[in-house]
Amino acid sequence: MGRYIVGIAGASGAPYAKRVLQGLLAGGHDVKCVISEAGRRVLEVEEGLLLTGNTETDHPDVLEWLGVKSGGTQLEMLHHRDVAASIASGSFHTDGMVVVPCSGGTLAKIATGVSSGLLERAADVCLKERRKLILVTRETPLSLIHLRNMTAVTEAGAIVLPGSPGYYHRPSSVQDLVDMVAGRILSHLGVDSALLKEWTGPEPPAYADQD
Ligand SMILES: Cc1cc2nc3c(=O)[nH]c(=O)nc-3n(C[C@H](O)[C@H](O)[C@H](O)COP(=O)(O)O)c2cc1C
Repeated sequence: MGRYIVGIAGASGAPYAKRVLQGLLAGGHDVKCVISEAGRRVLEVEEGLLLTGNTETDHPDVLEWLGVKSGGTQLEMLHHRDVAASIASGSFHTDGMVVVPCSGGTLAKIATGVSSGLLERAADVCLKERRKLILVTRETPLSLIHLRNMTAVTEAGAIVLPGSPGYYHRPSSVQDLVDMVAGRILSHLGVDSALLKEWTGPEPPAYADQD
């Protein structure tokens, strides 16, 4: 099984984080989770999840939010200011990291190598160790600064995967839209999940009666 880092920054899109965490844990993977202060604020606003920043007491609350009954030991919560945590060092092997959602602020810090907190430091480590780093950015419209920072992280090896679902699978619920993005994230991390629906073409065939 793999070992993945999930960073949650203060952008809108907490349901994406929830689905990705569920997918990783359900797949039997180990997860190191670090949440920025603004990320905690967004979790409270969007999911009603009130975290204090005390990683010991937050741990059961996060598991309850995820609906995880067993396998809680696979998840480790790390504090954003704990820059001495395992994931701050390249010697601690991981199979990749996703920042979901990723704010414009965290994108900027990663793009410029400003490792002021554990989340950005872990991302910086992934880049220097040439490990997979996925940034699920969420902002609209995008400024030239956002676009330049996206270019910079892409040049450095990260994948910018905006939290923008497609509609070609004809989603019937918000959860369908969330799952589409989460499925793509898990796929890019190399994790199997039932969330990813491959596009095999429209039905009925669009051009069948044109001859
Ligand atoms: C409810 C809520 C939603 C937000 N949505 C976004 C967003 O979608 N994108 C973004 O870049 N910032 C968003 N912000 C602002 C960031 O949280 C803010 O810039 C913060 O300083 C980012 O800190 P971080 O990058 O350390 O997490 C939001 C803030 C709140 C409270």
